[in-house]
Amino acid sequence: MADGTVKMGQVDGARVRTLTERHVMNTYRRLPLVLVRGEGSWVWDADGRRYLDFVTGLAVTGVGHAHPAVTAAIAAQAQVLGHVSNLYHSAPQAELAARLARLSGLGRVFFCNSGAEANEAALKLARRWAWQRAGAAQAKGPVPHVVLAAARSFHGRTYGAMSLTGQAKYQEGFAPLVPGIVHVPLNDVAALEAAFTPEVCAVLLEPVQGEGGVYPCTEEYLQAARRLCDERGALLMLDEVQTGLGRTGKMFAFQHYGIVPDVLTLAKALGGGLPLGATLAREEVAEAFVPGTHASTFGGNPICCAAGLAVLDLLEREDLSGRAARLGQRLVEGLLSLGRRNPKVGEVRGLGLMVGVDIGEEASAVAAACREKGLLVNAVGDHTLRFLPPLTATDEEVDLALSLLEQALDWR
Ligand SMILES: Cc1ncc(COP(=O)(O)O)c(C=O)c1O
Repeated sequence: MADGTVKMGQVDGARVRTLTERHVMNTYRRLPLVLVRGEGSWVWDADGRRYLDFVTGLAVTGVGHAHPAVTAAIAAQAQVLGHVSNLYHSAPQAELAARLARLSGLGRVFFCNSGAEANEAALKLARRWAWQRAGAAQAKGPVPHVVLAAARSFHGRTYGAMSLTGQAKYQEGFAPLVPGIVHVPLNDVAALEAAFTPEVCAVLLEPVQGEGGVYPCTEEYLQAARRLCDERGALLMLDEVQTGLGRTGKMFAFQHYGIVPDVLTLAKALGGGLPLGATLAREEVAEAFVPGTHASTFGGNPICCAAGLAVLDLLEREDLSGRAARLGQRLVEGLLSLGRRNPKVGEVRGLGLMVGVDIGEEASAVAAACREKGLLVNAVGDHTLRFLPPLTATDEEVDLALSLLEQALDWR
């Protein structure tokens, strides 16, 4: 296009790739696809090819692409009030906070724009809470400040979130990291107990590790973490940025484990595609934040919160958590059955519609073969393919994904 603008249905894919390669910072390993349109479980590229999207923008478009209820909420809010500072109140933010409080049982919410930011807020809240409990500025002796997090975890790319992340590859070249963070192996109760010194103020865990390769916490482990936090006066903080909002077959993954965290972080699916993160906390914990202690210009933006309310309406009204549980079972059974026919298919792990399958060869090459067949999935770790279908997918779409994976494996 001569004027350089991008019009619907006329995207020049080669130009988009060239401009991206020349001018966007080189922080992503991008695939050659230029996506121009999405609807439900499907996306289209600039050449008009259609793909079944089981990546969903990495667990973001949980209610599918361009859901009419979400697009209507965004358009309606954009026409009335697009942004307002947190110097003032706004209705979508207030309503969304109340809704999240009701759904989670955690009474207070801080809004931000991403998962990393939600975890930054959790880290600051934990330290500020411990500092306040220790008698604020008059504290004698060390204030508990250590946060325990899991090896192989992923919590985001900002300094605090990256320091909480238990994977050295994300930290290389960025030392010194935020101090006072100790990593422990997942699902090892004895190791968690051993690391629980009097300096610990909080434990942060993903109920199901996502980027690490789809590894769920065992029930015994998460319950032990809850018990240890209670006994030692520390906070149990759960990063549900990926697992939250129906993805695992319940509104929040913690509901599978018979525990309630003190702090919960959300993002990804919350904004239905718009940037929206949230840090939720019990009332007494949230009291550690007072005016001036934390902030975000865009946090709780009215358009994002209107989208968030539309997403939660859909989740509740259409019982999308129940649907995720049922579809997840279908997907897992299909993968297990594929594994009986094809020796390349190994262990299947997950919860609800967050499913990983170990593949007996390089997972990124298998993901590329799936893409050729018209299925988008992504590789995590070296040998794991991850499926994050929309919660609105149909049985037929799940079956189609299984069939495309089988074709891709046979084809390679
Ligand atoms: C569990 C978890 N926490 C945090 C993040 C970071 O979220 P964001 O990329 O929105 O900062 C991610 C992203 O993949 C995640 O999976």
